[in-house]
Amino acid sequence: MVSSPKPTVKFRKDYQPSQYLIKHTDLIFQLFDSHVLVTAEIDIESNPNRKNPQELTPLVLDGDELELLEIYVNGSNLDSTQYEIVDNGLIVKQTAEKFTLKTLTKIYPQQNTSLEGLYQSNGKFCTQCEAEGFRKITYYIDRPEIMSEFKVRIEGNKNQYPQLLSNGNMLSSGDLDNGMHYVEWHDPFPKPCYLFALVAGDFDCLEDNFTTMSGRNVKLELFVDKGKLDQCRFAMDSLIKSMEWDEQKFGREYDLDLYMIVAVSDFNMGAMENKGLNIFNTRYVLANTQTATDSDFEGVERVIAHEYFHNWTGNRITCRDWFQLSLKEGLTVFRDQKFSEDMQSKAVQRIDQVKIIRAAQFAEDSGPMAHPIRPDSYIEMNNFYTVTVYNKGAEVIGMMHTLLGEEGFRKGMDLYFERHDGQAVTCEDFIKSMEDANNVDWTLFRHWYSQAGTPSVKVTLSKVASGQFKLHCQQSCPATPGQDVKKPFMIPIKVGLLSTRGKPIQFKANGATLASEALLVMTESEQTFILDCDEEEVIPSLLRDFSAPIKLEYKYTQAQLAQLFASDPNSFNRWDAGQTLMSEILLNDNEIIDEAALKIIADAVSAILHDENLDNALKALAVQLPSLNSLIGLSNNINMDQLINKHQQLKKYLAQSLEHVWFSAYNTTAGDNSGARWLRNIALSYLLRANEDQHFELAVSQQNHANNMTDEISALQVIALSSEKFKADYINRFYKKWAHEDLVLDKWFTAQVLNENDDVIEHIRELLNHEKFSIENPNKVRAVIGSFAGGNLTQFHNPTGAGYELLADIIIKLNSINPQIAGRLTTLFNQWKKFDVKRQALIKEQLFRIKSTDNLSNDVYEIVDKSLQM
Ligand code: TRP
Ligand code: ZN
Repeated sequence: MVSSPKPTVKFRKDYQPSQYLIKHTDLIFQLFDSHVLVTAEIDIESNPNRKNPQELTPLVLDGDELELLEIYVNGSNLDSTQYEIVDNGLIVKQTAEKFTLKTLTKIYPQQNTSLEGLYQSNGKFCTQCEAEGFRKITYYIDRPEIMSEFKVRIEGNKNQYPQLLSNGNMLSSGDLDNGMHYVEWHDPFPKPCYLFALVAGDFDCLEDNFTTMSGRNVKLELFVDKGKLDQCRFAMDSLIKSMEWDEQKFGREYDLDLYMIVAVSDFNMGAMENKGLNIFNTRYVLANTQTATDSDFEGVERVIAHEYFHNWTGNRITCRDWFQLSLKEGLTVFRDQKFSEDMQSKAVQRIDQVKIIRAAQFAEDSGPMAHPIRPDSYIEMNNFYTVTVYNKGAEVIGMMHTLLGEEGFRKGMDLYFERHDGQAVTCEDFIKSMEDANNVDWTLFRHWYSQAGTPSVKVTLSKVASGQFKLHCQQSCPATPGQDVKKPFMIPIKVGLLSTRGKPIQFKANGATLASEALLVMTESEQTFILDCDEEEVIPSLLRDFSAPIKLEYKYTQAQLAQLFASDPNSFNRWDAGQTLMSEILLNDNEIIDEAALKIIADAVSAILHDENLDNALKALAVQLPSLNSLIGLSNNINMDQLINKHQQLKKYLAQSLEHVWFSAYNTTAGDNSGARWLRNIALSYLLRANEDQHFELAVSQQNHANNMTDEISALQVIALSSEKFKADYINRFYKKWAHEDLVLDKWFTAQVLNENDDVIEHIRELLNHEKFSIENPNKVRAVIGSFAGGNLTQFHNPTGAGYELLADIIIKLNSINPQIAGRLTTLFNQWKKFDVKRQALIKEQLFRIKSTDNLSNDVYEIVDKSLQM
């Protein structure tokens, strides 16, 4: 066994300003068939703000898998005593207050499967430098606070790479000898190297224009694989909408004359906000109604907006160090969420956001990787692009918005931009801007940045006198790794009151004016609020719109929950009451769900389906059971077999007892819109669950006649879930039709891994050998393994352990191919402590097997090690 040195932990408290700054960066890339030569000329200056300004230490540069060919300081060649190549970089011993360093390095992008640094995808060159990928391109101070002005020259074969792109504006271009050509770029905005980008290839391009609010014309270019232009319009329209929205909502205008987006097939994440040259996973660009589902369209709109919004929250103002990641990600997710709420249905968007928090973030917060939105330490930064930093980070910004109101929030944002434009700053700087602009003291609010874990608030309501109630709230937060005791959080709780018959009631909270809603702000571990109204009995509607990322505990009766589910005027809470009703029944100790409870839920669901005032998308959401993932996120002790049984039992009961209702919803829900399609397809899946033999033909007929991908893939999904003997024919037919569309094939793979029968694991092992599967393509790995282990919990938790073994096999294989994706998959084991001892033992066995792998990457090591320490 090759034992690698134990990876080092980086701590936030150890932050030191860089010894040196880089004022200018001049890069020359020469692209060849087997390698790339990188010439880097960087203007170094000592940092006046360094720790010991009287001292000049050697210059330490980061570098990873680079071959150094030449090195010069101020034009003269260094001899081997003047510099030293170390494990992860280069030390230049000869130094000065100010000098120019020039290096020539050789790299091998054609062999780079990590998809970090410079690599190839479908024969095109592209880059991914966040978080620490630039060090795989050239020797550099690879930290976000080093902001430098970049000039880039790219030379490559003109036939193979007619387009040579980088950040900023094009300066010049021209032909060279031997069929080569060059393009030179200049980005006038100093930027950290993680925002550097280079693309070279032969693309189709969709062009458009945007006139900014000050009247400047911006050229918009969308580059895609040849032949895909008919899948670009929606992404371009989304970009234009985003640009308009940021001007209207935040007064922020785009700052360059050119905005480029390039779509590539091989990408570790969704997309990357490189200045002026975004690089996207094709999944978040390519879409037309034939190839993309309604939710794919939403994803495209959201991610296009997210990357565009980064131009102000991320690029113009960036992070001082990577511990501050939520400064840009939490804020930018918040912004893309508000954008989506304005473009789509607000309630539906909010429900989707909360589903992510409950199914993924609560789980992360209760597992070995629990961390504050501003982490205190990390081994591998890639492991901290998490739902906590992104989505809980967005919830924390959302609480600021709730506390300050629209106007106050905008004032804070304006001050933040005014103070920090062009700087690399911290979360603290952001909070300070909000405080100063609004004259508030948020000492307590800061705990959201420093403490991990999901707070719980226990609420009781008692009658004090006729028409007067006391709402008592008590908060607590469980221990998380490294944080045993927690200080109280500042928690905004939005509440309403309903009469026992479900009518909204006006009330006064703590003597304030009469209103139908109040914002109660907790600042202590225990607090009481007085509510005055004209009723003898009320049902509280608590934590409306999920006004804080917490678990709220209130002892509702099933009848009260059913009442809220039927009539809460707050759409979010109406949905939430249904989820709470179902969650409690699914998670209680009963081995099976009793008849009475089943009936309460079925009646409530039936009422929802018959409610003429409710739109189809909200109906679709309301009749879906809480996912197994969200149930696991809610509880620390899971009886998996019992939970899966009860989940099946409830679905089956709803399917059968409401069969005629589903049938009529399937046949009479009209409309060529996403809400209607969603509801019809949920009805279809319930119908097949009610009686597969009888309704199978409905699915087949839908597959035959669908004129959009939402209906086509929904039909395939229920077919693939079924036990029907001939289903393989339909699966093959879909394959033949779509074998040429990579993104559609991802859906085809996923549909098959969700089958809950015992033979699915064997089938997945066959899919891994399918000619269209590639372990080097993250979308394929996510479509097959990610969807299986994250979405088919019945078989992932198969009591034989075969599901765990399958995931571990892939992690071990990917460890050397793409550590970032391997690390991400490893987190799918993180909930192991919640299961029965047998499953715990089976998962631990796989974790130990992974841990003993030769040359384990930092990415995987960090996750397994923390998981095993639980
Ligand atoms: N900054 C990107 C975003 O949120 C995230 C990202 C894209 C990323 N690719 C990455 C993060 C690779 C780490 C590694 O928009
Ligand atoms: Zn982002």
